[in-house]
Amino acid sequence: MSGGTSFSGRDFRDALSSFATGVTIVTARDGAGQPVGMTASSFNSVSVDPPLVLWSVTKTAFSAQAFHDAQHFSIHVLKTTQTDMSGRFAKPGTDKFAGLAVAETQHGVPILPEALARFDCRQWAVYEGGDHWILVGEVLDLELEKGQGLVFSGGSYARAETLQSKAVEESRLGSEHPLESLAFYQLSRAYHAMADRFHHQVLDAGLSLGEWRVLSSLSGPEALGLEELAVRTYIQPYALDDVLAGLQADGLVRFDETSAQGTDKGRARVAGLLELARQNDEASMDSLSEQERAVFKANLQAIRD
Ligand SMILES: Cc1cc2nc3c(=O)[nH]c(=O)nc-3n(C[C@H](O)[C@H](O)[C@H](O)COP(=O)(O)O)c2cc1C
Repeated sequence: MSGGTSFSGRDFRDALSSFATGVTIVTARDGAGQPVGMTASSFNSVSVDPPLVLWSVTKTAFSAQAFHDAQHFSIHVLKTTQTDMSGRFAKPGTDKFAGLAVAETQHGVPILPEALARFDCRQWAVYEGGDHWILVGEVLDLELEKGQGLVFSGGSYARAETLQSKAVEESRLGSEHPLESLAFYQLSRAYHAMADRFHHQVLDAGLSLGEWRVLSSLSGPEALGLEELAVRTYIQPYALDDVLAGLQADGLVRFDETSAQGTDKGRARVAGLLELARQNDEASMDSLSEQERAVFKANLQAIRD
């Protein structure tokens, strides 16, 4: 390469092609009124006000002089379904428009069907750019359709996919550990990560985990049926009586054969722990946004019910 650079032309082109771009076809008319068009990935935005875009054309292209001189041109952004069109307009000099349903703008520029977007431009400026001309166009009109834009990267066509966050990507791919892909395994790991610290605080407060569950379930004013209490506390009905009897002996609950109710003393006993539980809950979801927490809790409920 000229200019004493430390890299080859090949290196330069390879490095440039690592930059993913969209693909466009630029069209215009030459001095004789014949349509010209070429595939170009050098398209880019320049200015919003005034609305300006640019692309660059190699001076050796058959249609280079026509684009240099054309007062109007149109840039078609291609869809993923248009790789054939891209190939057709990347061939030098042939009649690229044969057999296509070509319309034209009010300035006579040939326009191609099915593009994702089209920018109809008036020539704004032409700059020297080494072996290319840099053509800047003022956008006079545009069309935008629905669809996915064709991508060109590393010399190949591609489609763009929205990148997932790292966490979602990892859970999608799974890791080497076969259990990692199972939701219930993740739930159980998450449960321990969230609950272990708090459970120590419960034990430090002189309650068993069963007693904590019973007292917190009965921290409202109303009585609860024993079956419902067994479900909420994961204590088997036959074992529930023993837990309730111990708590009743300490004056923390009252119960009979069908229901149980917390006492003022029982409510006071767990008030501090309930606050600690709330703080622990918040702290363990530190890495989630407010909205993610709400979605997370709603999803847990949906699975649970
Ligand atoms: C994906 C892709 C992008 C291209 N981008 C450009 C470009 O930005 N500028 C350019 O001059 N040529 C570009 N080319 C090459 C031209 O399309 C090619 O040289 C074409 O033959 C020019 O047509 P013409 O010689 O009939 O004028 C690209 C080709 C492909 C496949």
